[in-house]
This record gives sequence, structure tokens and C-alpha cells, in this order.
Amino acid sequence: MATPAAAPAGGRAPAADAPVAGRVPAPPPAVRPAAADVGARGGPRPVVLDCDPGHDDALAITLALARPELRVLGITTVGGNSPLANTTRNALRVLALLDRDDVPVAAGAERALLREPWTPVEFHGASGLDGADLPEPRMAPRAEGALALTEALIAASDRPVTLVATGPLTNVALLLRARPRIHEEIERICLMGGSLGAGNTTASAEFNAWQDPEAAAIVLGSGIPVSMMGLDVTHRALFLEPDVARLDALGTRLGRVWADLLRFFAAYHRRRYGWDGSPIHDAVAVAHLAVPGLVTTELLRVDVETAGDLTRGRTVADREGLRGLPANVEAGVDIDRGRFVDLLVEAIAASG
Ligand code: BDR
Ligand code: CA
Repeated sequence: MATPAAAPAGGRAPAADAPVAGRVPAPPPAVRPAAADVGARGGPRPVVLDCDPGHDDALAITLALARPELRVLGITTVGGNSPLANTTRNALRVLALLDRDDVPVAAGAERALLREPWTPVEFHGASGLDGADLPEPRMAPRAEGALALTEALIAASDRPVTLVATGPLTNVALLLRARPRIHEEIERICLMGGSLGAGNTTASAEFNAWQDPEAAAIVLGSGIPVSMMGLDVTHRALFLEPDVARLDALGTRLGRVWADLLRFFAAYHRRRYGWDGSPIHDAVAVAHLAVPGLVTTELLRVDVETAGDLTRGRTVADREGLRGLPANVEAGVDIDRGRFVDLLVEAIAASG
């Protein structure tokens, strides 16, 4: 067995792929932040939402459709918070609630690339979106499926497209693997997933990254700029009891529906964490694109653990640049919570 090289005095042993001593490597180019995208200038940024609704996914959809800075080309669904049939139905129910029959929906992967699914029923309920009476779908999902729909929407767009991924990254990874040339037409992948610290599904990993770590590794290794809204920021994006009261006070149908949904979501987080509200994880990914400066970010090298057992799906940040690799991720680390809540309340108020 090979023995590791001796550590330099006072330092760590170099990683196997570290630069050779004596040569000064050029500083690697870091990923650019979302605010520097072409899509952030000159008209609404075209986005495709890939999601697994899910309470916070549903609110991400609601926010994206309400923001003038974004143009939602379509919605694709993935199995995650609930089986695919439920997440697809829930996306369609949310569109029925919002009276938005103009947004095409297509179903994607039922399960992760390599792993068996695990459904967090306690988190979102048996339907994946328990807690309120939602209308039944008014549309059918598109027959071509998520990959073909996304490909067609990207091909038809006159501007580079941003994928907003708020479920396990299976659909996005399949698209990147099946259509390598599509990389150039995707300006950014803004995802909710991962954590620079502890997880929420295991001690190591956040749910979306844990559910399909191989897909997450493909996305973070794709070379496409990634905005990673992980638990570091989303656990600060809490919708609290007084915020729910603001929805009641709207006196509208959507205000009532959303107050009921968020009371259901908060009950889980009260049991689990003792919090007086719930983190609206997925809406942070939408809000970050819509409102530059809302989320505080750091440019980091982040890779996904796929080999570990205890560490499956951990998103490992190389904060000290020990591997000599360029930053591939703009990671969210903090948020203006009050402004974020205002955005959500405004979106629900504007939606009827
Ligand atoms: C993520 O997992 C899901 O339950 C939520 O919808 C969010 O995307 C949070 O870990
Ligand atoms: Ca989700």
C-alpha cells in the first residue's frame, strides 16, 4: 500500500491532486455570482423550475410566477418529498390555485440515479402538500416528459436559461448527461440543496443532496455556474407565526390557503427543532435570482460525497483551497429574513 507523503512542517499533507511544489499555479477562475449573469440584465430572466412540491417548492413556484424579474418557461417534477405522481399532481394543483394554465408541466424521474427513494412523509404529509384544500389539476402533464420539455424550452428561448432546481437533482443530471451540448445554453443552475455544516436528513447531509448524491455530484462538477442555497441560508429563511398572521389578514382565498399550508409545515418544524415557524428553503433559490443582494453569498469549491456511508450526500466545501480547484459554487450563507418574508407575502397577495 502506498504511504502518504510527509506533511510539510507546520502544514497539512498535500492532497493527491494538489499543485506540484515549486510551480506557482495561476489562480483558477472562480464561478461568477448570479448578479453578473446576462440573465440578470435586460428583461426578465428565463427560468425552468425543477421541483418536488412540497410546501416550500409550492411557495417557490408562487414566488417565481409573481416576480417581474423572472419569466417561468415551464415546470418539471421529480420524485423526492413525495412520489413523482404526487409531486406532479401538486405542481398542477398549485398552478390551478394560481389560475396559471399557461405554464407547461412535465414529469421527470421517479427516483434517484442509483439510490432507492425514501419519502419524508412527516415533513410534507401523505399527499406531499398536506394542510389545505387545494383545487384539483386543470391540466394534464405534458406527454413528452421533463427532459424533452426542458430541452425544447431552452432551444426556444432567445436568452440563456437558468434552471432553478429545488428537489433531488436527478432530472438536471440526466439532462446534462444525455445532452452534453446543452451545457452552453444553460446560464446557471440555482439550486436549493446541500449544507456547508450539518445536514437535516442525516448528520452529514441535506435532503436533496442525500436523496441523489450522484446527481448532485454531476451538477456541481458540470462547469455550469451553480448557486447553492443550502441549509446555511435556508434555516435563516424562517416564516414565523406572526408572518402567517399576515397571510390571514390578507382576507383573500390564497392568503387563507397559504396560511393553512404554512401552519401544517410549521407544526413539523416545531416538533423537530422547537422553532416558531418553518424554513421556506426552496423559495430562497427563487428569491436569490429575483432580488440581488437579498442573500449573502461566498464563492467556494464544493464537491459532493458519493462514496461514504455516514457522509452520503455531504456537500464538502474546500474553504482553504487545499485541492487547488476553482470555486464552482456561489453559496448562500445569510439572508435578509424580513425582506424575504415581505417578498412571499407580496407574492401571495398579488396572486389573488
Ligand atoms: C429540501 O428538502 C425538501 O423537503 C424541501 O422541499 C427542500 O427542497 C430541504 O432540505
Ligand atoms: Ca423541494
